[in-house]
Amino acid sequence: MKPAFVFGTRPEIIKLSPVIRAFLERGVKPLLIHTGQHYDYEMSAVFLEELELPPIDHHLEVGSGTQAEQTGVAMIKIEKVLMEEKPDVTLVQGDTNTVLAGALASVKLKIPVAHVEAGLRSFDRTMPEEINRILADHASEILFPPTEDAKRNLEREGITENVYVTGNTVVDAVLQNAEVAEEKSDVLERFGLEPKKYVLITAHRAENTDRGENLERLVEILESLPIRAIYPMHPRTRKRMEEFGLLERVEGIENLIVTKPLGYLDFLRLERNAFAIMTDSGGIQEEAIILNVPCLTLRYNTERPETVDAGGNVLVGLEKERALEYINRLLNDPEFYRKMANAPNPFGDGKAGERIAEILLELHKRGELRVKSSRFI
Ligand code: UD1
Ligand code: UDP
Repeated sequence: MKPAFVFGTRPEIIKLSPVIRAFLERGVKPLLIHTGQHYDYEMSAVFLEELELPPIDHHLEVGSGTQAEQTGVAMIKIEKVLMEEKPDVTLVQGDTNTVLAGALASVKLKIPVAHVEAGLRSFDRTMPEEINRILADHASEILFPPTEDAKRNLEREGITENVYVTGNTVVDAVLQNAEVAEEKSDVLERFGLEPKKYVLITAHRAENTDRGENLERLVEILESLPIRAIYPMHPRTRKRMEEFGLLERVEGIENLIVTKPLGYLDFLRLERNAFAIMTDSGGIQEEAIILNVPCLTLRYNTERPETVDAGGNVLVGLEKERALEYINRLLNDPEFYRKMANAPNPFGDGKAGERIAEILLELHKRGELRVKSSRFI
């Protein structure tokens, strides 16, 4: 069997690594296609190295652009590779432009698409990711929702065949790397941070960074934090901070360390030892609850409602008063802190990657890895 993996951004590399590993352990060599949506060393190569992935077979160097430019160029380049390589299935993960491009290019060549982390919905169609999720799910033949909630979202849209709840591969990645991170990373020492005495910040979503007034609200929250904080800044945000004249202001905040994006091992260790996490990232909302760290999400909705339902995550948006209210409660109310930190992980047992590989190998053996003409009964 020949599975092709199409990926291009930081979270896709991290979350597909357990699936790639599971195929390798079963004697199957996956074809690795990197679109190059992320290209800086600290947004891409560092993860390929740290996660010890095999060499990339095709590097497409798509780079940055408008939504259509990036998706279109990726589609054209992915199609060429798929036509040449003729894989049995194309795996994509998540909701980026790379995912949409990979799914569309593949299904139109009648190569079935397997969508890892299918069925997530923020119910906010103004987010580019929401459009990508919906379209990728509908172009996919085999769907791997991480949770029952995600499966129900697919059912509501009429997708019921070849749907397998597997858990989220993010758990596999965390379990495979958390101890290694504690051993190998010196990130706390490097930045002079003490365990449980700082907040970890990330923010990069288009809706938070592309408008000056929103980015300024983020800066105001950071200025008012009553505890030390560290912010590994995504290149998109750095660029916008510069454009809107906010970079110096944020870099000047006394209690805040602003740094480049960090490698996975450094970042995992920072997450695990944080007092709390404030983020608009999808993957980091998941990792926070897995690592028992309270999470305040800098958004008004989430496609990970399981984290909120479980009690480990609160949506604070860009509301300074609300963000501060929760940080202060966490600081002053040990019972509240304990409750948030001990929220149960809703994302599974860390065997999602193995399940995905097993299911695809079985479908292949039975001759069922193909694009069917209809899946609606
Ligand atoms: C993309 C995904 C988002 C995901 C995020 C993970 C889409 C629509 N968005 O957002 O869902 O959460 O990746 O991090 O696919 N840049 C660099 N160096 C890089 C990569 C990007 O400088 O290696 C800068 C460029 O100025 C670029 C901007 O960041 O224009 C945005 O990059 P892009 O890949 O378009 O979107 P992300 O914000 O990274
Ligand atoms: N991450 C990292 N270094 C950083 C920030 C994030 O290794 O400086 C990892 C993090 O552990 C998680 C993933 O990148 O696994 C999340 O990526 P991101 O927030 O960019 O994307 P999203 O999950 O929102 O799509």
